[in-house]
Amino acid sequence: MPRYLVTSALPYANGPIHFGHVAGAYLPADVYVRYLKMAKGPENVLYVCGTDEHGVAITLKAEQEGVGYRAYVDRWHSEIRSLFDRFGIEFDTFSGTSRCAFHADASRKFFSVLLERGFVFAKTEKQWFSEQSARFLPDRYLQGGCPQCGFAKARGDECPDCGSWIDARELQNPVSLIDGSSPVLKATKHWFLDLPKLQQAGLDSWYRGNDENHPVHPWKPNVQGHVQAMLRDLHARPITRDLPWGVKLPEGLEGAEGKVLYVWFDAPIGYISATMEWAAAQGTPDAWMDWWQKEDTRLVHFIGKDNIAFHVVVFPSMLLGQEDAWQGKPFVMPWAVPANEFYNLQGRKFNTSSGWYLDNDSFFAQYNPDAARFHVLMSAPETADSEFSWPEFQVTNNNLLADKVGNLASRVLKFLDKRFGSCVPEVAKEPTAAILAVRGHQALQDADAAFAAIAGFLENFEFRKATQHLIAGCTALNQFFDAMEPWIKIKGSQAGDWECCVETLERCVAYLELLSRRIAPFCPTTAGKLRNMLGAVAETHVASAWGEENVAQAPATLPAGLRIGNVEMLFLKIEDEQISAEIAKLEASASAAAE
Ligand code: 2FM
Ligand code: ZN
Repeated sequence: MPRYLVTSALPYANGPIHFGHVAGAYLPADVYVRYLKMAKGPENVLYVCGTDEHGVAITLKAEQEGVGYRAYVDRWHSEIRSLFDRFGIEFDTFSGTSRCAFHADASRKFFSVLLERGFVFAKTEKQWFSEQSARFLPDRYLQGGCPQCGFAKARGDECPDCGSWIDARELQNPVSLIDGSSPVLKATKHWFLDLPKLQQAGLDSWYRGNDENHPVHPWKPNVQGHVQAMLRDLHARPITRDLPWGVKLPEGLEGAEGKVLYVWFDAPIGYISATMEWAAAQGTPDAWMDWWQKEDTRLVHFIGKDNIAFHVVVFPSMLLGQEDAWQGKPFVMPWAVPANEFYNLQGRKFNTSSGWYLDNDSFFAQYNPDAARFHVLMSAPETADSEFSWPEFQVTNNNLLADKVGNLASRVLKFLDKRFGSCVPEVAKEPTAAILAVRGHQALQDADAAFAAIAGFLENFEFRKATQHLIAGCTALNQFFDAMEPWIKIKGSQAGDWECCVETLERCVAYLELLSRRIAPFCPTTAGKLRNMLGAVAETHVASAWGEENVAQAPATLPAGLRIGNVEMLFLKIEDEQISAEIAKLEASASAAAE
């Protein structure tokens, strides 16, 4: 059994995160992890995340607010955690690059090993310097013309228009975003990651799937498109910066004073240091190596498309450049990088400062977090940019979750409550042809096929299809209940009517138990509620086990007499007026911000 080490991009502790982030890198990972823990056993899965707490953007924002760097990142660390809590996103460990006691040393060791082994070199070169502020200007704080496409507002590190990586020195007519001055080029020493050398040393072979010790899951087309172009023209990248906040360079290195590691160098090491912290907290400090160095680990990075280069080129290069420097063993390499495209809000990018965002407090005070999870997954930007739209959220909540999932549970269980004293009735031991026809009904076979397909979609990172199949299974079960008309059969006078009604109820309750486990990765709170409603029926299977039912197969017959619990509503409907009010609120907030 492989072990799964799952990470989500470490969010910058530099502002709120929103539904767009959640849709890209966190919710799919949480669903994947919940599924894996059920299907493969929780001991074979570890989900690691934390906040990315260094970098120039954080430094400058904290300075602008007149807050110390530590206090600044602590505030955002807590805020970000609370949004994950509201969404029910559960990590095995959630650390942060400036709070993890293992992080700085691990990052410096990564750097030193790469330097010793010739994969990092030092070079003195010119960099933009603001004479007005007496500081070197980080790439992101420069704006100018893109040397590739001419777009006038390119950043010093990349062009938002054509997406190319930019060498800041090639920006046309640069302006300092810190003070508006025109910077000058000044010499400074920096260290560079020799990506072309690492490409030859194994990156290319791993990426192409030719490294038998480090297999890869087929790349998503968006990842391939991005990486192939990069690999054709790879350059060394500077991995140090002149900044007062970050991981200091190893001691004794000439010219290293006042410099820290580039945030994109230390951030992915955060996945490793967070695992070290987790292992130490378990009382097994060496256990991190099982996750990061055993060949059967499948390392899966969930990220947004803007992080592809770092997770498919830069971090893997850093990992393979460590060679055998850590206890004589190499690191594992990423097995899959299911990168998502961007998730927008009603036709525009989420943007707090332009008022185009969802207020988390107000959202979670009114709406069911499981409905939010399900809708975000159903509309996730898996192959192209997609968006959250209020009317579509209403449709998911009302027409799919309330009408198909919630209604199925309540109509079946209420019927059982009223007509069978809340207990599973006894089915025929010697079924007649009519009863066999109920058991083999096409709608039940459709439900079997739909529920059985979910695992494969989740393992292949196709979350939209997984949600569609969950709904398809419920649609089929509703069709079955409708076609069988147990409310008529129970009063029927024809031979076999009563038996057919009993059979229908028993099947529906057995399928509801299966549904409570199939829905659990997507809607964990609802799954728990449904299991409570099922009472003793839920005890026929362990809630935390996916079970063997990955092949289309009907659930086993329930023992007669099992008593169900109290029946409640799983999903409340959202009224049209609420949706109109939300849209009006969003537009008002955008207009207020524009003014
Ligand atoms: O884009 C971002 O939000 C980065 N903070 C992601 C870092 S992922 C990792 F490498 F740590
Ligand atoms: Zn450009």
